[in-house]
Order: sequence, then structure tokens, then C-alpha cells
Amino acid sequence: MTDLIQLERQLLARIASADERALEELRVTALGKKGAITELLKSLGTMSPEERKDKGPQFNGLRDRIAEAIAARKAQLEDRVLNERLATERVDVTLPVADVERGIIHPVSQVLDEITAIFADLGFAVAEGPDIEYDDYNFTKLNIPPEHPARQMHDTFYLKPQADGSRHLLRTHTSPVQVRTMLKQQPPIRIIAPGRSYRHDSDATHSPMFHQVEALVIDEETHLGNLRWLIEEFCKAFFEISNVRMRFRPSYFPFTEPSMEVDIGCDRSGNRIKIGDGNDWLELGGSGMVHPHVLELCGIDPKRYQGFAFGLGLDRMAMLKYAIPDIRSFFESDLRWLRHYGFMPLDIPSLEGGLSR
Ligand code: PHE
Repeated sequence: MTDLIQLERQLLARIASADERALEELRVTALGKKGAITELLKSLGTMSPEERKDKGPQFNGLRDRIAEAIAARKAQLEDRVLNERLATERVDVTLPVADVERGIIHPVSQVLDEITAIFADLGFAVAEGPDIEYDDYNFTKLNIPPEHPARQMHDTFYLKPQADGSRHLLRTHTSPVQVRTMLKQQPPIRIIAPGRSYRHDSDATHSPMFHQVEALVIDEETHLGNLRWLIEEFCKAFFEISNVRMRFRPSYFPFTEPSMEVDIGCDRSGNRIKIGDGNDWLELGGSGMVHPHVLELCGIDPKRYQGFAFGLGLDRMAMLKYAIPDIRSFFESDLRWLRHYGFMPLDIPSLEGGLSR
């Protein structure tokens, strides 16, 4: 009995001053497989029933108290480590952030946010689709069946054929998002779809991966005047000027009828292109009234509904607005370029804030 009390006192004293390593050693020597208390418990098996009745509770009590003391000490040590870290790793959040740690927003992301803010204000939702697209959505449902000559104009990147012979592709424009939207939503539809597109093409104004922003409006009485007004209002807001000149040239896209190329008035007399003034024109993208056959292929009744769509080059708009000369520099991941042309993370574009400020 006195041995037990002594063992307990000794153990408790050592536990109270143990560090983590010593504590683990103590746990093994007391409670481990061959530990002192484990041995005591084992000895119960060889005792007479009376003796066991007497010693059993004593041994078990001892084991419980020691286990508890070890757990308590362990928690205490962990708390201490945490408190030390809290004391040494203090951060003064009021200090300015060092330049090296600050991220920068790419002009494409900034322009994308600007465009989204403008269209959101006009009641448009943002729709999305994947970069890897079905041939059916990129072409066939847009009234470009297999063997149609318009397919050749798209310089498509194809993926390996599927088991059934069909081939996925990198979408050549954001127009398949029109298809995806119409397949799952009945009119009225008002969406924009900004995103990446891919074509086998590369020079100062073409990159094999580029960005477009698609717009689609379908309702019962949507007409060309609405299309023209929308593009004009958008350009005024985006370029932050009140006098834009727009020009619509007849064009051809299989998925719109009539189809028009959209140009914006600009001045090229200096070294820079200036939007708004001047007598020159710059192409922004394609547009038109959605072809009734496309509506039909996408499950929308062309007798009841009509609408328009357009697709503008987003990188080109960023180049124009922020005077960036070469589109390829957008995708070279050169930090010096990004620091020069990029935006501060908290410069979130908004119409109230004057967009680019
Ligand atoms: N998808 C066409 C292109 O990339 C642009 C476009 C979009 C034309 C919508 C008409 C309507 O060239």
C-alpha cells in the first residue's frame, strides 16, 4: 500500500515537470505494455478473489489518475507552445504591405470585370461554358453542319477522336455558350458570356488563345435597333466617352441573319489609336439577329421569339482602352509587363466608381 502511494507520488512529481519527450517516456514506463502499472494490473490475474477485490480498485484508480495527469500535462505543454507562437508571430495589420507580396490584376481580368459591371447594370446575367467543347455546340447547332465551308475559316484545334468517332475541340468562339444557354433556358434571355477562345493563328494582333465576350438577347420583340443601342451604350460606358461613332457593315455568319460587323470610330493620326474622334474605323466583332434555324435547333420557337447576338474581342478592347500594343504580351507572364499594365487588387471596377477611375 505504501509502495503504491509512493509510486503515485513519484510519478505525479515527474509528470508535473516533464517536457514532451520525458512525458512520453513516463507514459511508456508507467502505462506501456511492460509499464509498472500495467504489470500491477497483470498481477491481479494471479491473486485470490478476496485479494483481487481489494487491490483491483486500487490499481485501476492509480492507472486512471496517472493517465489523467499525463493528459493534463500534455494539454498544458501544447497550450504553452501555442502561446509562445502567438507571442512571437504577431502581425501588425496596420503596417503597409511590402511590394513583393502584392498581387496584380491582369488587364484581361480587369476588363472582364469592367464589362461584367456594365452589363450587370443593364440586367444581364453571366453565362459560362467549357473551353473544351462539343463539335455539335461549337458548329452544328449554330447552323454550321459538317462540310459547311465556314468550318474552314475557324482554324480549329481538334482533340483526339472519341470511341464513336466524334471529336471534341477547343471552342473557336464563345458562341457555343449561346447554344448551352438556350438549351436550358426559355426566353426572355439576357446573358453575356465572356471567356477564352482558340484558333490556330498567331501574330501581333492574333493569339492562338484569346478572349471574347458574347451577348445574347432573346425575347418576343427584340430587333436590330435594340442591338445597335446596346452596343453603343456599352461602348460609351466601356471607353468612358460620350460621343462614340458606330458603323455596322453587312457580313456573314451562319448563325445570324442578317449579320453585321461592328466598327467603332477612331483616330489613328498620332502614334496611338484614339477611340471616339477621327475618321477611321476599327473592328470590334460580329453581330446579328439569331438565325431562326439556330433557335429551332436549341428548342426555342422561332415563330414566337427572336433575338440578337454579338461577339466582341475582349483582348482587343483591353489593348484599345489601355494602349497596349501587342496581344502576345498578354500571355507571356512577364512580371515587368504585368506591373506596368496591371491593376491593384482593390481597384474593383464599378459604374459608381467611374469604372477605371
Ligand atoms: N462568333 C463570331 C466570331 O467569333 C462572332 C459573332 C457572335 C457573330 C455572335 C454574330 C453573333 O467570329
